[in-house]
Amino acid sequence: MRKKVTVIGAGNVGATTAQRIAERGYADVVLVDIIKGMPQGKALDLSEASPVLGVDTQITGSNSYAATRNSDIVVITSGIARRPGMSRDDLLATNMAIVEDVTTKVVQRSPKAVLIVVSNPLDAMCHVALTASGFPAKRVVGMAGILDTARYRSFIAEAVDVSVEDINAYVLGGHGDTMVPLASYTTVAGIPIGELLPKKEIDAIIDRARNGGAEIVGLLKTGSAFYAPSAAVAEMVDSILLDKKRILPCAAYLSGQYGIKNVYVGVPVKLGAGGIEQVMEIKLAADEKRALRRSAKAVEGLVKDMVRLRREAKS
Ligand code: NAI
Ligand code: 2OP
Repeated sequence: MRKKVTVIGAGNVGATTAQRIAERGYADVVLVDIIKGMPQGKALDLSEASPVLGVDTQITGSNSYAATRNSDIVVITSGIARRPGMSRDDLLATNMAIVEDVTTKVVQRSPKAVLIVVSNPLDAMCHVALTASGFPAKRVVGMAGILDTARYRSFIAEAVDVSVEDINAYVLGGHGDTMVPLASYTTVAGIPIGELLPKKEIDAIIDRARNGGAEIVGLLKTGSAFYAPSAAVAEMVDSILLDKKRILPCAAYLSGQYGIKNVYVGVPVKLGAGGIEQVMEIKLAADEKRALRRSAKAVEGLVKDMVRLRREAKS
């Protein structure tokens, strides 16, 4: 039987994710959105590209969940995106309600799926999806670290004037201002970055990566990034569906690793058929450890905000 990937939210990230997966040809794709006709129209357009691309992917667009039944992976991109001046946290109240609602609906029909959360604020939305799904934490994973790391890698490649393929790096932590780019793990074909660029330039690159999302929002004005985010999601889907067991930076629920407990934060994980098969604990310098814990504290703050917002909504 063919694998099935459902993408909830057929906006910029959802539609480009659907396109990337459909073009791989290894799984059928279901695209769901609340806007009437929109997921159907995008699915039809994607299907009509199939003969040119030579793939036999079945692509279905829908405003309901019937077609999502027995999905292997569900990617959650539904929600509102940032506009200029908005932080990811401004999205909290709206997106927590949306993510809770869609998670409840998808897991009824796909109780064995792996959920990949994309909606922002990312780490907080992972908590919402974990609670609403009742899934084990290894089957609820967030996409952000690959994107943040890709931005960082692309800026390093540009500065050193080498192929992006030769840049190895990790950006850990929450998907926000407290993200943690690890200069100590940044190498160019194995050469530590400190041997190739002055510290000042590395710091400027770290700063640009940290503000990478806002830089794009400032340019686009009507939405946020989607090409790089969808490429990052597709890399996670590859690793899970093809059981590749890639080590990728993703938001994972920690249970004591890095001295952090009961919170989602970006760390290197092994992604395979079972979802997060292992949280990889890499050695961090003291300042990096501190920065990671600070980042986890910021996520905890958002989780507390969500509890307060729920309480206020009830009273
Ligand atoms: P978008 O506005 O283009 O698309 C969002 C879609 O969600 C819209 O089509 C909307 O109709 C749909 N939607 C809203 N409520 C829904 C519901 N209840 N059920 C189904 N669909 C629903 O936004 P875009 O650019 O696709 O971004 C989506 C989300 O992903 C945003 O929250 C954004 O901040 C986040 N994001 C996260 C990234 C990350 O690194 N984790 C990177 C890029 C975006
Ligand atoms: C980004 O980093 C908006 O979170 C999104 O581009």
